[in-house]
Amino acid sequence: MDSKKTVLISGGAGYIGSHTAVELINAGYDVVIIDNFSNSEKKAIEGVRKITGKDVIFEEVDTCDKAALRKVFEKYPFDTVIHFAAYKAVGESMAEPLKYYQNNLVSFMNIVEMMKEFNRPNVLFSSSATVYGEAEKLPVTESTPRQPATSPYGNTKQIAEDILRDCCRAYSGLYGIALRYFNPIGAHPSALIGELPRGVPNNLVPFITQTAAGIRECLSVFGNDYDTPDGTCLRDYIDVVDLAKAHVAAVDRMTEDKMKEKYEIFNIGTGNPVSVLELITTFEEVNNLKLPYKMAPRRPGDVTAVWADTSLANDVLGWKAERSLGDTLKSAWEWEKNVRGI
Ligand code: UFG
Repeated sequence: MDSKKTVLISGGAGYIGSHTAVELINAGYDVVIIDNFSNSEKKAIEGVRKITGKDVIFEEVDTCDKAALRKVFEKYPFDTVIHFAAYKAVGESMAEPLKYYQNNLVSFMNIVEMMKEFNRPNVLFSSSATVYGEAEKLPVTESTPRQPATSPYGNTKQIAEDILRDCCRAYSGLYGIALRYFNPIGAHPSALIGELPRGVPNNLVPFITQTAAGIRECLSVFGNDYDTPDGTCLRDYIDVVDLAKAHVAAVDRMTEDKMKEKYEIFNIGTGNPVSVLELITTFEEVNNLKLPYKMAPRRPGDVTAVWADTSLANDVLGWKAERSLGDTLKSAWEWEKNVRGI
C-alpha cells in the first residue's frame, strides 16, 4: 500500500461514503473503510466491491472509540482521511442534542488527534450548506458569512469546521479541506448503492421514491407560500456520484501538494436552484409516473432558498457537476425499485 494513494474513509458504508469509495477506487486509490453501521448497511460494502471489482478493506470500528481507531492507524498507511461518520437528522438533533455533540464532535476530534499522533497530513471533512442558514445574498460563495446554526446538527458542522481550521493553523503537518455539500440526491447508475434511510425519511427525494413505491401514502410539500417563483423552497440538488467525484478532486489536490492554504473550503453543488414542485414534476416526467402529493404547512427550520456559487470548486478543483437532474432522479427511482424488489 502506497500511503499517498491510500485513503481512510470513516462512515464509508453510508450514502455519500460508499459512492466516494467507488470513485476513489476508480481513480486508482486504495481505500480502507471504517463504519459502525449505526445508520448504514454491510450490503453497501458489497455494492462497492461489485461495482469496482476490487476487494475493499473494511473494519467495523466506531470512530468515537479512540483505542479502536488507533489500531486502524497502526495497521494501515494512509496520508488522507475523509471523515463522513456522523449523525445527520436535523429534527432528532433538536430532541437529542447531546447525542449529536457527543458523536459528531468526539469522532471528529479523535480523527484529528490520530492524524497528529501518527503524522498523517490530510483531513477532508464533510460539511454542509446548512452553515449558511438563510443567507442575505444568493448564490452563496465560500466567503458568504455563516449564520448561527439553527440545530445542534448544523452546529456540529460549524464547530467541526472551526476545529479543523484551528488545528491546521496550529499543527504544521496538518492540512484540511471542508466540502460544503448542498442537497445530495440520487444513486449509483448500477443501482447497487444508494440512500437507505431508516424509518420515515426526513429528506425530500427518499420520501418521494418511497411514496412512488407505495410505502408512503402521500408526499407533503412543506409550504407553498415562500417568496419564490412557485411558492416552494429552492435548493441546489447535487447528484451523489458528482459529489463523490468532488472528493476525488479534493483528495488529488491534497496528495499532489497543490493546496494554497493549509485549510480550504469548497461549495459542492450544481449552482442551479430547483423548487420542490419542479423536482416533483421532473421526477414524474423522467420516471413516467404520477406521485400523490399535497400542500402542507411549512416545516420549522427550513430556509426559503439556498444554492451554491460553485466557481471556486470549478476553477480550483477542476470539478463540475455533470449529471442532469432528470438522470439523477431516474437513478434514485431505479435504486428504490432495486431495494424493494419492484
Ligand atoms: N420537503 C418537503 N417534503 C418532505 C421533505 C422535504 O416538501 O417530505 C422540502 C423541504 O421543506 C425543503 C426541501 O424539500 O424545502 C428539501 O428538504 P430536505 O429535507 O431534502 O433537505 P434540506 O434542504 O432540509 O436539508 C439540507 C441537508 C441537511 C441539512 C439541512 C439543513 O440535506 O443535511 O439542509 O437545513 F442539515
